[in-house]
Amino acid sequence: MLVIRDQDLSPEGFKKAAQVFGELQLHDKKETHVPGHPDVYYVSNDQIVNGKRIIPGESFHTDHSNHPAPPKATTLFAVSLPSHGGDTQYVNMHSAYDDLPQETKQRIDGMKAVHVYLSKYSPRSLGHLSEESRKALPPPGIHPLVRTNPENGRKALFLNPVRMESIVGMEDEAALALIADLMAHATQQKYEYRHQWRHGDMVIWDNRSVMHQANPDYDMNERRYLYRLMLKGEVPA
Ligand SMILES: [Fe+2]
Repeated sequence: MLVIRDQDLSPEGFKKAAQVFGELQLHDKKETHVPGHPDVYYVSNDQIVNGKRIIPGESFHTDHSNHPAPPKATTLFAVSLPSHGGDTQYVNMHSAYDDLPQETKQRIDGMKAVHVYLSKYSPRSLGHLSEESRKALPPPGIHPLVRTNPENGRKALFLNPVRMESIVGMEDEAALALIADLMAHATQQKYEYRHQWRHGDMVIWDNRSVMHQANPDYDMNERRYLYRLMLKGEVPA
């Protein structure tokens, strides 16, 4: 992941900056776009569903893994930040994979998981999805638990409890236990970089190499608003 400080980007400028790194991928939630810019999305802390505030990204995940070809990268640009808190944590899934015991590596080699828009086992809600957006959802992504990043040839764990609904050929109970073990391993602090946002930060990360999560540890009367774009990726292998 890269941090590019001190940027002053309009929605269109942010689009141009993102496209330096690849081709834009549309967001599943088409309704959360910046007014007047249908292909520039945002994350914010102002959505409340059934009396509960939705904090996008509030548990470790990789973005849009419900797609057969999930986005290779995501980028955020900080427009409005709380006075403190609201960090984003990233964990290195290459290091997490490398450190697994040999027998675990052998056990999970070749395993595939079914990633849907919202798993019935998800630890959190994704908020409201319009009918139009729901109709446009892709078929589930069926992805290896271990994928190789084509940019660096390194293997990485590819996990997302928000979207993983099953592991092919496994009972759900056993699959959930395995995913929980791998998540506990991968989210240890030794694998983590914690980004403290500053105004003007553009951050871009490789979804094939890291998981990330947002933090709701700030005053919700303060606005946290970031532009968000994703870049097209390939079918995980
Ligand atoms: Fe995310």
